[in-house]
Amino acid sequence: MDGITEDALYHFEKVDIRDREAVRRLFETYDVTEVVHFAAESHVDRSITEPEVFLTTNVLGTQVLLDAAMWHWKLDAKNKHSRHYREGVCFVHVSTDEVYGSLGAEGFFTETSPIAPNSPYAASKASSDLLVRAYYETYGLPVKTTRCSNNYGPYQFPEKLIPLMIHNCLAGKSLPVYGDGQQIRDWLHVNDHCEAIDLVRQRGRFGDVYNIGGHNEKTNLALVKLILQKLDRPETLIQFVQDRPGHDRRYAIDASKMAREFDWTPRYSFEKGMEETIDWYLRHPEWVERIVSGAYQSYYEAMYSSVE
Ligand code: DAU
Repeated sequence: MDGITEDALYHFEKVDIRDREAVRRLFETYDVTEVVHFAAESHVDRSITEPEVFLTTNVLGTQVLLDAAMWHWKLDAKNKHSRHYREGVCFVHVSTDEVYGSLGAEGFFTETSPIAPNSPYAASKASSDLLVRAYYETYGLPVKTTRCSNNYGPYQFPEKLIPLMIHNCLAGKSLPVYGDGQQIRDWLHVNDHCEAIDLVRQRGRFGDVYNIGGHNEKTNLALVKLILQKLDRPETLIQFVQDRPGHDRRYAIDASKMAREFDWTPRYSFEKGMEETIDWYLRHPEWVERIVSGAYQSYYEAMYSSVE
């Protein structure tokens, strides 16, 4: 991210993707030719208390973006049946492994695993994936979809497991572990994720899905203990709290298609990635303080009322 704001091609516009008119204006103002669609409500716990905003943003917002791209890129915009688009245009939809639901102790999600979402968040992402697929089949829109496992790294909002635990450690608060803490996630550094998305953008096939993952499975409890150890804090800070409803037990991604087609594998080892991430949070207390003030405080109090 460093230095990007000085690039002549960089423009920042804060726009709600549900706002059809504003999104259309962006396509016209900048003559957009490629979209990498990361915009989403992304936190499972929030989706459990407030599902509606996940549906309007993740499903309807995606449809607004698809429509804007389709009409801006169509060669014959007057012909609603035309499936011909400008050269070089591309819509990458960034999705998640959560659309596949939960795994047992064995196996991996592949691109052909059944879609079986368990939370309102996952259901909203699965719905948007299906819409993207439908725009490819029905209108021939040049789309590609990526499905990634859990990300970590700098600038992650402290509602997610890793930054929340680091923040609580530093603030001397308890670390709330849901249920028995034996749920498994497959962790990938955000830079590896971005590199994989860029490869799909450049070289992926239209209409295809690409799984992205780290082959780096950890139980939540092991991860929390690792953070405590790195920050030299006692394990007595761990507080087991009520489990998340519908909590997926295990995610694990088979990313062999990415390896086979683009020779992609993650560059970061988990050890190096976590060290850099913890170090980043230690060096940016002002970023964390700014981010956890205001609305975050009321979210935290409502979500973790039983945590000391
Ligand atoms: O798998 C990809 C997904 O990873 C993304 O699509 C989502 O946007 C992202 O939020 C993430 O979903 P998870 O639900 O896996 O991430 P989260 O950081 O919320 O939780 C990770 C695990 O840690 C999960 O099993 C729940 C548990 N957890 C989480 C929090 C915030 C706790 O035990 N305590 C907590 O306070």
